[in-house]
Amino acid sequence: MVVVLSTAALVYACQARSDLHPVILVPGSGGNQLEARLTKEYKPSSLWCRVWSQPRWSRLWFSPLVLIEPFTKCFAERMTLYYHSDIDDYRNAPGVETRAPHFGSTQSLLYLNPLIKDATAYMAPLVSTLQTLDYTEGDTLFGAPYDFRYGLAPQGHPSLTSTKFLHNLKTLIEHASHSNNNKTVILLTHSLGSLFALHLLNRNTPSWRNRYVKHLLTLSAPWAGTVQQMLTFASGYTLGVPFVNPLVVRTEQRSSESNLWLLPSPKQFTDRVLVVAKAMNRTYSADHHNMSMFLRDIGFGEGVVPYERRVVPLISEGLAAPGVPVSCVFGSGVKTAERLVYGDGGFDGGPEEVVYGDGDGTVNMVSLVALEREWEGEGGQSLKMIRVPGVSHTGILSDGGALEAIAREIAEINSNSSLLTTTHNCQLI
Ligand SMILES: *[C@@H]1O[C@H](CO)[C@@H](O)[C@H](O)[C@H]1NC(C)=O
Ligand SMILES: *[C@@H]1O[C@H](CO)[C@@H](O)[C@H](O)[C@H]1NC(C)=O
Ligand SMILES: *[C@@H]1O[C@H](CO)[C@@H](O)[C@H](O)[C@H]1NC(C)=O
Ligand SMILES: *[C@@H]1O[C@H](CO)[C@@H](O)[C@H](O)[C@H]1NC(C)=O
Repeated sequence: MVVVLSTAALVYACQARSDLHPVILVPGSGGNQLEARLTKEYKPSSLWCRVWSQPRWSRLWFSPLVLIEPFTKCFAERMTLYYHSDIDDYRNAPGVETRAPHFGSTQSLLYLNPLIKDATAYMAPLVSTLQTLDYTEGDTLFGAPYDFRYGLAPQGHPSLTSTKFLHNLKTLIEHASHSNNNKTVILLTHSLGSLFALHLLNRNTPSWRNRYVKHLLTLSAPWAGTVQQMLTFASGYTLGVPFVNPLVVRTEQRSSESNLWLLPSPKQFTDRVLVVAKAMNRTYSADHHNMSMFLRDIGFGEGVVPYERRVVPLISEGLAAPGVPVSCVFGSGVKTAERLVYGDGGFDGGPEEVVYGDGDGTVNMVSLVALEREWEGEGGQSLKMIRVPGVSHTGILSDGGALEAIAREIAEINSNSSLLTTTHNCQLI
């Protein structure tokens, strides 16, 4: 990896730093730190939660205490969102204030907890790779952490938290450009961050996009949702963390608006059977009536109104082509849940059988490549798909081959504007 990386670095060493197109990193769900502050209205559900509470800002995600049973529950109750149908928007639990610290910087994306770096490294290896290309924090390299529990609302619906995030991201893009001789910006996004970035582009004018954005480079983007999300909603999902009871975190996972956004989209998953419930003699596809029925049947009836009101129209707003060049880097050939078969035990106990298919272990192939079909025949839209075999959804942020592919792409994006004219001045270093 080091050897090939340095090839990209070599090509790059020919350019003055000020020639770089600035990069803004947008993380995926769970991919940055979150802090919480508890106010008087906070009602701890147990003594443990009362003991583990401070009136000052402190790290909520990620804290290792989350793995210890009495605290898992406290964590879950503080992370839980509530949909208020009267205002048609989501809010935190009463008495829980949250924020994503260090907006503008990569600081909160490197490690989810800087005290346990090895266990919680997230974008640290990617940032090291960008540094070999001469990217510098605060100068040409920026980060856009956000409260990833919230999703976006379709046009015409309120979305207090995410609207603020898109506004801040837009301002950050403009700042990054202005502080770099007005060079256009590269958005480098992982997973859910890619969906936010595409919507940001499409919600601004073509002239703004052309003025400020050079390229959208996405990693492991779940363009059309995942079957894995149905598993999370039905039975809870602990991200492979041992000791944590999936049902303890399930309520919190169900409450996350962005999780609802990541349910499989009917346009790409069409009428395939994604879930079989033998006990009820029912099958469910991504069709939105089916999905509403699924949410009810798994005991998450509260999800139906926000799903139908906000997610269905957001998904049908679609994945419009932004005009800005897009490259998608993603893993393939990793077994990925494609159909969940539930037996007589119902949904709580988890599926009796999982049928796997191609993908990155989390996102199905049909979703990873959705833009190809979506933008077919869009003459003006440049789209490049870069597959990295055997690389998982988050492995893409640390795997040597994947980082090499990303570095090559970043170097090429930069070289397309100016390097071609300066290469002959370059010497091997
Ligand atoms: C960047 O563009 C703005 C107008 O959008 C202009 O006022 C400013 O002088 C430009 N800066 C540089 C360094 O070219
Ligand atoms: C299950 O449903 C199918 C059609 O949807 C029907 O043909 C079959 O008889 C049903 N089986 C049971 C056990 O209800
Ligand atoms: C899902 O949709 C199909 C086709 O519209 C329908 O036959 C089936 O009954 C639906 N399933 C559920 C659980 O609503
Ligand atoms: C660079 O430009 C070439 C030729 O115009 C194009 O084929 C290629 O896709 C571009 N690469 C990137 C990363 O934009």
